[in-house]
Amino acid sequence: MSIDSTPTASSLKAFRAAFLDLTDDPFFVPELDCVRYIPDGLLVIENGIVKELGPYNSLREKYAQVPVIDYSGKLITPGFIDAHIHFPQVEVIAAYGEQLLEWLYKYTFPTEGKFKDKEYARQVAKFFLNELLKNGTTTALVFAAVFPQSAEAFFEEAYDRNLRMIAGKVMMDRNAPDFLVDTAASSYQDSKALIQKWHNKGRLLYAVTPRFAVTSTDEQLRLAGKLLEEFPDVYLHTHLSENPDEVTLVAKLFPQAKSYLDVYDQAGLVRPRSVFAHGVQLTDEEFQRLSQAKAAISFCPTSNLFLGSGLFKLGKAKSPDHPVEVGLGTDVGGGTSFSLLTTAHEAYKVVHLQQQCLSPFKALYLATLGGARALYLEDKLGNFAPSKEADFVVLDTRATPLLGFRNPIPTVASVTALADEVFSLIILGDDRTIQATYVMGEVAYEKG
Ligand code: GUN
Ligand code: ZN
Repeated sequence: MSIDSTPTASSLKAFRAAFLDLTDDPFFVPELDCVRYIPDGLLVIENGIVKELGPYNSLREKYAQVPVIDYSGKLITPGFIDAHIHFPQVEVIAAYGEQLLEWLYKYTFPTEGKFKDKEYARQVAKFFLNELLKNGTTTALVFAAVFPQSAEAFFEEAYDRNLRMIAGKVMMDRNAPDFLVDTAASSYQDSKALIQKWHNKGRLLYAVTPRFAVTSTDEQLRLAGKLLEEFPDVYLHTHLSENPDEVTLVAKLFPQAKSYLDVYDQAGLVRPRSVFAHGVQLTDEEFQRLSQAKAAISFCPTSNLFLGSGLFKLGKAKSPDHPVEVGLGTDVGGGTSFSLLTTAHEAYKVVHLQQQCLSPFKALYLATLGGARALYLEDKLGNFAPSKEADFVVLDTRATPLLGFRNPIPTVASVTALADEVFSLIILGDDRTIQATYVMGEVAYEKG
């Protein structure tokens, strides 16, 4: 350390490439005011934290001693954030023919039963995290299975890789096979022990995770609310209003509730840091309530199309009358891809089917800063603002012959050309587009 305590060159590293990030929400702020594009940039990182991002020419002298990793010709964005996914459902992906409730009973519950075995859970967690990183996803909000040891295995693997992950053991005490249910009391105790062990350990965070209203008794939901009271900075993660039959069943199971969301509200589960997956069937009143409560929605288009659930009304969620923070979720294994590029592609189509357009920068916002905001992690993730954690993705805009043909220029100059290029990545890209993934400034995946 030098006398004036400026960092020594050895604690710094830098990356040269084109950089793109979003600095605000383009659903509400003019898009061009939200997009930062530096065609030839330098990202300087100190101990895994962003120190500075700017044009290469203006920063290179200031950091003349700092080693530069050169990705010229590539595009670097913040790491992608998956706002809803199930790690025990990797092997259920692409299960034929059923809608939500039948799909759960026929495919998903039997598979999740295997996660009683911690070693099995560990093997799948390793595979799952490899898939996330290979797809440029650096943070995810993750369902484990009902068995606390499945959450343990996931946290242990994520901790070893220094990942910022949010996860929780599923709470489910009815309407599921005997081998897959807990009790209200055991789910409370097991979740509490996991919170005490894992919440804020390294970069890990805990989400209290009742599966959905169908599989929880009133008592279990009440105890989930008690956990939130006892640990106000943990998350609440559940499913909401995904499929019409599910909504009908919830109304039967909870006749005293005004709406599906009200079931959760009565248990104290609707508040900041509550993240509800799907919301396809929500009413305007429910959007209002989510907005007022500062709760968030995970929009999971590949899942909503695959399970035939319906079209999420992104326009309603982003209405100025009742704005709700929205992240993108892959929802593997109801969803059909680990790639948030592919997920954004399907989001574009879902919105288009409602006679609207999801612009490429809005889609990128949902996968980065929007996800960070939905997960209350904007102070740490989502863009390259100084002091944020340096999780990022190196994109090869010409990764396939078709993309190379579509994008003849490696680094475009204008934001207009960039919008077109990013759209091509959303429509044509997938894991092949990910050249490398960095976690806290360290390489976590590099394409072979
Ligand atoms: N609702 C309750 N459980 C699930 C699940 O595992 N996947 C999806 N997509 N919806 C659910
Ligand atoms: Zn889900």
